[in-house]
Amino acid sequence: MYRSRCSVTLTLLLALWVRAKDLTDIEALASTPTRCHYMYAYDMYGAHCAGLRLSKIPSLRGGIEILDFSDNRLQEIQSDTLSSYTSIKLLYLSENQIYSIDKDAFAYLTNLETLDLSKNVILELPESIFQMRSLRILYLGGNPLLHLKLDNLDIKKPIKAPLEILDLSDCKLKSLPDFGILPQMSFYNISYNPLTSLDARTFSSMCKLSNVDLTESIDKISLCDLKMTISWFREQPVHFQLKDYSRLNSREFEACPEPEIPQSLNISYHQCRSAYTEIQKVKTYRRTWFTIAGGLAGFLIGFVLLLYIMHRHNVAQTKKLKKTPPKSTSGDTNATAILLNDLS
Ligand SMILES: *[C@@H]1O[C@H](CO)[C@@H](O)[C@H](O)[C@H]1NC(C)=O
Ligand SMILES: *[C@@H]1O[C@H](CO)[C@@H](O)[C@H](O)[C@H]1NC(C)=O
Repeated sequence: MYRSRCSVTLTLLLALWVRAKDLTDIEALASTPTRCHYMYAYDMYGAHCAGLRLSKIPSLRGGIEILDFSDNRLQEIQSDTLSSYTSIKLLYLSENQIYSIDKDAFAYLTNLETLDLSKNVILELPESIFQMRSLRILYLGGNPLLHLKLDNLDIKKPIKAPLEILDLSDCKLKSLPDFGILPQMSFYNISYNPLTSLDARTFSSMCKLSNVDLTESIDKISLCDLKMTISWFREQPVHFQLKDYSRLNSREFEACPEPEIPQSLNISYHQCRSAYTEIQKVKTYRRTWFTIAGGLAGFLIGFVLLLYIMHRHNVAQTKKLKKTPPKSTSGDTNATAILLNDLS
């Protein structure tokens, strides 16, 4: 009897334990986030939705400046997909399944500075991306189908986006697209592309370029065809990254005839330089005016505040005067005298 009771208790305990274990598993599953969460990063308010297996951007709080929607299952960006989030500055959409982007998908994102569309299957880029007035950083690497349309991309030049970093790595590009003059460009990643040519003019139009990643991209190009661009890099200087520099350090490369730098390179380079100077001028001009306007606004606010304090002070004074009847000392003594007289 005692034994059977004991075993019953044991089974019960065991069952409970199994239940508890099941529960913790369920709990563990439930605790992996399924919803976006909000946080501050780089002094900005943002929504973090990465890795949630979402195929749609859920309704998010307004006013976000960062949206991390990487590693999800988004396939299309339509004109209304992002239209409610006009304050976004940093947008991360890498590692989705994006193949289609509407012409005006980013039209409302007038503050967008960084756009990461890497590791998708984008078929065609809307040219409007290159006309976004705040866009400085654009990641398009790891889009294996992009090359189909990038070659004959019809862009209005000069483009309006102030690009500083452009990543076109691993996009199966055979030749580099022509973006025209990019006066603020400093880093160009074109690694892991089967390039068949490397036109120096691409780089002369980027007069502030300091770094270009060419890893595994120029092995198919004959040595002497590289000479002009490499000379250009060495002269500027532009730091270029390769996996293996031995080809360029070979006697064979040395023996290639030194090409004469054509006039066209000079022209595009100088156009780029003057565009850059113009941008710097506008920036300084804006900064100056901003400072002046800021100082003026500060002064005005201070002045208005002073007026307000003086006004408050005056109002308080008149109120005080109204409450306590005017103390004419002579009248008071008279009143007291009368009172005293009455009493006596
Ligand atoms: C350029 O892109 C490749 C492939 O996406 C990446 O591995 C590499 O780190 C990038 N280069 C730099 C200097 O960031
Ligand atoms: C290119 O421009 C520089 C000065 O801006 C000049 O000295 C040089 O001769 C030019 N080269 C050609 C080929 O026009």
